[in-house]
Amino acid sequence: MTQGFGDRDTIYEDIDVLEADVGKYKPTDLPEREEELDKIHMALRPVTMDGSPRDILVYGPTGQGKTAGVQLKSEQLQEWANQEGVQLEVIHLPCKGADRSYHVLTRLVKELREVRKGQGVDEPSGYQRKRLFEMVLDELETIGGTVIIILDEIDAIGEDDYILYELSRANPDDVKIGIIGITNDLQFRNNLDADVRSSLGQREITFNPYNANHLQNILARRTAQALRDTHFEDGDEDFTHLKSDVLEDGTIPLTASLAAQETGDARQAIELLSYACDLADDEGVGMVGERHVRAAKEEIEREALIDTIGAETTQRKIALLTVVSAELNGATGETTALHQLYSDLCEYIDANELKQHTFREKLNDLVHSNVLSKDRHGRGRGQGMSNMYTLAGDVNPDSVLDALEDDSRVGHIVEVIGS
Ligand SMILES: Nc1ncnc2c1ncn2[C@@H]1O[C@H](COP(=O)(O)OP(=O)(O)OP(=O)(O)O)[C@@H](O)[C@H]1O
Ligand SMILES: [Mg+2]
Repeated sequence: MTQGFGDRDTIYEDIDVLEADVGKYKPTDLPEREEELDKIHMALRPVTMDGSPRDILVYGPTGQGKTAGVQLKSEQLQEWANQEGVQLEVIHLPCKGADRSYHVLTRLVKELREVRKGQGVDEPSGYQRKRLFEMVLDELETIGGTVIIILDEIDAIGEDDYILYELSRANPDDVKIGIIGITNDLQFRNNLDADVRSSLGQREITFNPYNANHLQNILARRTAQALRDTHFEDGDEDFTHLKSDVLEDGTIPLTASLAAQETGDARQAIELLSYACDLADDEGVGMVGERHVRAAKEEIEREALIDTIGAETTQRKIALLTVVSAELNGATGETTALHQLYSDLCEYIDANELKQHTFREKLNDLVHSNVLSKDRHGRGRGQGMSNMYTLAGDVNPDSVLDALEDDSRVGHIVEVIGS
């Protein structure tokens, strides 16, 4: 019989607090980012003195609290403005998916119009970008007061930094504007036009990766709110003061150390712990342990691998399957042997067959996306060097077969190899 909903006790008190998406849960405190938040504060403070906010560029790798931090400070400023009756608008514009300045401009026009007209304005279409920029200025002047524009994940626009160039030089009448650019792409920051860098990049705020200690404290605060019978003793909100009847002692340290070993990404740490809690809750054991964290990590990696492999081209999938087959049969992963196998497989599913050097490129592409590892070794005296391909350390043959068994082109190969 399948489980019924709501017919069991749960470890959760407020499950949404373990959401890593900033749209779903916003932390009200980021003590690990005190210095960075102080700098954002300093850049926004002129607003309280009837001055213009400073333009800033916020840089740091993914999951470091950039969006959460900028949102927190801008909301604090908004609260102040509401109390004081000061006209302030904060526009948070996620630029993901806007691959050119043009798209950011159309989104910005829409957002600015919605300030006056409410939700549901269409993005303008069919205009030249210069005209769109004029629309932006018109809207800004109509709104008046102070407008802060947060361009989040601004690296999406690639090399086309027109919007940043124009916005950072704009001087519309009767309105003060502040631009906050956020990016996790170092290359983008370095490639910015010199003028843009000198205005935006003059005040640059860097969010360096969290270490395991930071992550433990971040996770501890989340669980104190999210889980039942979990709270801080003595008022100190750090991990060493956390008492919990549903978390084993090693659970948070293990989660934090796994995330710290990779990139110190708080989003990843929260997602991992949240998954582990779900697994434990589902089992109905009432206690989240290290084994749940490990199982969650495996599951997350398996899903990520399925996504990566699923998105590869058919030729790369076949190339990958030659390596899987070699590993399952204890055969060599040498290029020539793999190519021989590849020819057979292509014939079997009637796929276009590539020459060995092009086939090798496919294998190398897979090395690039961390699905395969490559090792160069000597063939023996005077025989030159050859490449050996194996599955990358954390990829196991069964997961690859699982990922591809329903593939319309290579599914038949999986049947043969897997049997
Ligand atoms: N110091 C912190 N305290 C509490 N939660 C944090 C902290 N830093 C980050 N988080 C949480 O981690 C997650 C990721 O943070 P955020 O989305 O701000 O990252 P980001 O730096 O903007 O990453 P990206 O470059 O991928 O957009 C969010 O759920 C956020 O609430
Ligand atoms: Mg972000």
